[in-house]
Amino acid sequence: MALKRSDRSYLNSFMVMDVMAKAAELERMDRSIMHLEVGQPSTGAPKAASEAIIAALNDPATHGYTLSTGMTPLRRGIAQHYKRWYDLDIDPERVMVTVGSSMGFAMAFLTCFDVGDRVAMTNPGYSAYRNLMKSVGLETVDLPARAEQDWVPRLEDLEALSPRPDGLILASPSNPTGVVLNKDELAAIAKWCDDNGVRLISDEIYHGITFGVEQSCALETSPSAIVVNSFSKYFSMTGHRVGWMIIPEDLIDPLDRLTQNCVISVPTISQIAATAAITEESALSELAGHVERYRINRDILLNELPEKFLGNVAPAEGAFYIYADTSQISNDSIALADRLLNEANVATTPGADFDTEQGHLAIRLSFAGSTDEMKQAAKNITAWVKNNT
Ligand SMILES: Cc1ncc(COP(=O)(O)O)c(C=O)c1O
Repeated sequence: MALKRSDRSYLNSFMVMDVMAKAAELERMDRSIMHLEVGQPSTGAPKAASEAIIAALNDPATHGYTLSTGMTPLRRGIAQHYKRWYDLDIDPERVMVTVGSSMGFAMAFLTCFDVGDRVAMTNPGYSAYRNLMKSVGLETVDLPARAEQDWVPRLEDLEALSPRPDGLILASPSNPTGVVLNKDELAAIAKWCDDNGVRLISDEIYHGITFGVEQSCALETSPSAIVVNSFSKYFSMTGHRVGWMIIPEDLIDPLDRLTQNCVISVPTISQIAATAAITEESALSELAGHVERYRINRDILLNELPEKFLGNVAPAEGAFYIYADTSQISNDSIALADRLLNEANVATTPGADFDTEQGHLAIRLSFAGSTDEMKQAAKNITAWVKNNT
């Protein structure tokens, strides 16, 4: 007899991971592939973080659990980061350390919503939100953020959602568009959420990676927002799997209990590395250098890729993505990504991973890699477009 399997376990896969697997297969055949699919810095952790790991390894305490909420020096360092970047006073008790921001929004969904609740997210948006929401029984409500509106989610579209959603998860800078909401735009959305009883989860994982535009934190307007962040992007530590949440006081206890029961605690050695990355001055100046490299990489792609490939491209003001409108080249982004990989040796992510309706008309390029990789990718894509369109 067939054993039971839950409906909620039938999730869409993360297309970018599928592309990575295909790229790895080609690499095994000695093909040299440019990796513009994955949103992962090609640099490692800051030197101070690596040194902190080496120094801590012989201490037995490193090999045990920490408190579920996270190590005290790390929670303090994160709170201090809010003073430094946004002039906000955050009580370290409101900081929860998580396994990447991925665990942060899973925990936030579980703590804030009940099965059947409705949570809005932008379309295009980060597909893991949608997939995870399904797995915990939430209904996703689309908030458009496409070219017609300069890729910016609008308050009036949020107001028009009927029935009103129970929550909103929003990333600024955005993945995949790179759009950064200005202070007024974010404040208006955060205030509307507070006034209307809509729980705001602000995914600020790309903060620090902006190009000449201001970034603001949802907590500047809404003390009840949940902010999710991570050491993966700005701090260049994806594999360490450390993130954090800033949560309102009434959620400290429920989130602490949920973490105790789900993961007990975040890997101790990674928390030690993260503490160094967020507190040591030398780490902070090293990281500023990465942001400058991303800006150079972005400019190479925007200046060198054919107009026909970029189309009505999203602004790329933050994060490390270009969301190209490839509608003049193809109406099937999955097939286009496949051809770019097989015929031009460039791995990209189909827009279908981010936009359930128009994603077939877009491709996301990550410029988190090295500058040489971007130069080569721009050459390869340009030649491919010339020969094939
Ligand atoms: C918008 C956004 N949020 C969250 C994540 C998850 O990152 P992590 O779990 O490594 O912190 C990603 C990863 O690409 C992302 O793009």
